[in-house]
Amino acid sequence: MALSGWVNSCRELGGALVFVDLRDKYGITQVAFDDSVSAELRAEARGLKPESVIHVTGIVRSRPAGQANKERATGEVEVLARSLEVLGAAQTPPFDPATADKSGVSEELRLQYRYLDLRREGPQAALAMRHTVLLALRNRLSDLGFIEVETPILTKATPEGARDYLVPSRVSKGKFYALPQSPQIFKQILMVAGVDKYFQICRCFRDEDLRADRQPEFTQLDVEMSFVEQQHVIDMISAAVAHAVTSVRPGDGPSLPLPVMTWTDAMRLYGCDKPDLRFGVPLADVTELVKDSGFGVFSGTVAKGGRVRMLAAPAGGSFSRKDITAFEDVAKANGAKGLAWFKVALAADGPGSQVEGSGLGVIGGTSPQLGLVLEGGSAKFLSEAEQHALLVATEARAGDVLLAVADTFAVSARALSAVRLAVGRQLKLVDSSCLAFTWIVDFPMFDRDEETGALSPAHHPFCMPKESYPGQLEQDPAGTLANSYDLVLNGVELGSGSVRIHDSARQQRIFEAIGLPAHEIRERFGFVLDAFKYGAPPHAGFAVGLDRLVMLLAGKESIRDVIAFPKTATAACLMTGAPTPIPAAQLAEAGVAVLPSLTQPAPRQGGEAPQEMDA
Ligand code: AMO
Ligand code: AMP
Repeated sequence: MALSGWVNSCRELGGALVFVDLRDKYGITQVAFDDSVSAELRAEARGLKPESVIHVTGIVRSRPAGQANKERATGEVEVLARSLEVLGAAQTPPFDPATADKSGVSEELRLQYRYLDLRREGPQAALAMRHTVLLALRNRLSDLGFIEVETPILTKATPEGARDYLVPSRVSKGKFYALPQSPQIFKQILMVAGVDKYFQICRCFRDEDLRADRQPEFTQLDVEMSFVEQQHVIDMISAAVAHAVTSVRPGDGPSLPLPVMTWTDAMRLYGCDKPDLRFGVPLADVTELVKDSGFGVFSGTVAKGGRVRMLAAPAGGSFSRKDITAFEDVAKANGAKGLAWFKVALAADGPGSQVEGSGLGVIGGTSPQLGLVLEGGSAKFLSEAEQHALLVATEARAGDVLLAVADTFAVSARALSAVRLAVGRQLKLVDSSCLAFTWIVDFPMFDRDEETGALSPAHHPFCMPKESYPGQLEQDPAGTLANSYDLVLNGVELGSGSVRIHDSARQQRIFEAIGLPAHEIRERFGFVLDAFKYGAPPHAGFAVGLDRLVMLLAGKESIRDVIAFPKTATAACLMTGAPTPIPAAQLAEAGVAVLPSLTQPAPRQGGEAPQEMDA
């Protein structure tokens, strides 16, 4: 038999036996060079450098009794070598892919030498899984009658809310293309053009702050359909995503239909629009219960129009003071002024005694919270009646810890949502193998800037508003909902979509509501408004973030782990060194001048720059 691959490792047993572990796409095979081959060949095998590419021929045989390697698929056999050829010699690599998993090589070094990094089993498996997921989705959509249409990469700014990557035009100096943040406008125009069912596995480009689940260029499964309503898109995407899950994790496909939650409920119960539903621990709004409290942090906030919200960490009694301080830091990092805490304990004086005559929150004598009291933290500022009402509202049990934030609705939501996730991690409430999907529907149409009051589209400006009365868009824009929907998996926004506006006049009203001046509307979106004047079908669509889907299916923490050549948190490619300065002549040809203050450093070579990786 013949084998080609990389030298994973070499070892010698006495002078007459050399073992070479050869690694290829299918795994690792032991090749033995014994005294049936020449001493020269054995010496050559002994001198092989790890990561060299070799070709060996030989005979497959069972390993001698007791020498099988149970850890390996090929561990029962070995190849007794007859010949050896070095096809590609390797220098000593900057790290050894064979041991990198255990030796803890930095991500910077791995990304700089990504071709070595990708030789490892984990990254190979991630790339293969990505391929399987993309193929499953592509085949499913094609079977359903969708056709894949490619849309331009050199285009005009698309309104997804991030900064654009710009490309200067050499031919029209002083003018720029923008790389698409998504094919949003083109896919809608394809509907006007009669394509009816479009999809594309497409690259999108967004210049925004990067995180573990954000890259400057990423891949979407982009979909648009004509003559459909929201429910059709939700059903179709649910089925396609379930099919993709099954393609790589048979048995883990979610049951359909997937759960649906309104945006309002998500914000009320979890404080965010992408709740991690692998565990419970909902938030309770206790504003009314503490408005007259002797605890000034609560009553003072309510007096100023704020809200008081809290959660019960199940069995949080195991938290140390240090844990609670860490949660308080999480709350503060998310805008809260503090985090009030109370331990739930059994009352010393027996069930019910602490609520006598309170009239608050107790239904008959059946409340499971009878006999519980709050202790520690700020409990001394709360009356017995208030304590009981809070226990009932949070459905607390003995041994829980209540954690509360008093602030505006938005701040309490952001802070407690982050605290909830931290509690889930700390108490190991999250089953990492579980896939918890939910749809979030009925988003607000606009986000309002807290300082300036300016409106911006919560999704993008092409969503169909749900006007509950004519003119609501103008009279109560902040209260107007959109026909838009997100798919959430394990606390990650997997995708977004909406029913689109398909008439010019309504689209114009949205542009006006977000404060775009008439000339800018014409300049930026005139071609879309024109297209809608020539017979546009009702249409709706969706885009799934494929990097995120594969990341979650592969059980990874970062989308970098499922992208062949990802960028760092500063949007750099450590292998190629991009972005790099451009020679003056090339800049002049493109009609671009770089500010003198930015032109000092010499072009960087791959990997030299200090780099920061995100979480
Ligand atoms: P949206 O902007 O919500 O919608 O993007 C859809 C999905 O793409 C993924 N995503 C990202 N993934 C990695 N890195 C990024 N920087 C990044 N940004 C977004 C997310 C997100 O849910 N045109 C609309 C879709 C539509 O309305 O049909 C759009 O792009 O998973
Ligand atoms: P202080 O009165 O600032 O010492 O705070 C007393 C307790 O209340 C501390 O545990 C603070 O973390 C907490 N706290 C302060 N401000 C808030 C707030 N806005 N919401 C919730 N807890 C708070």
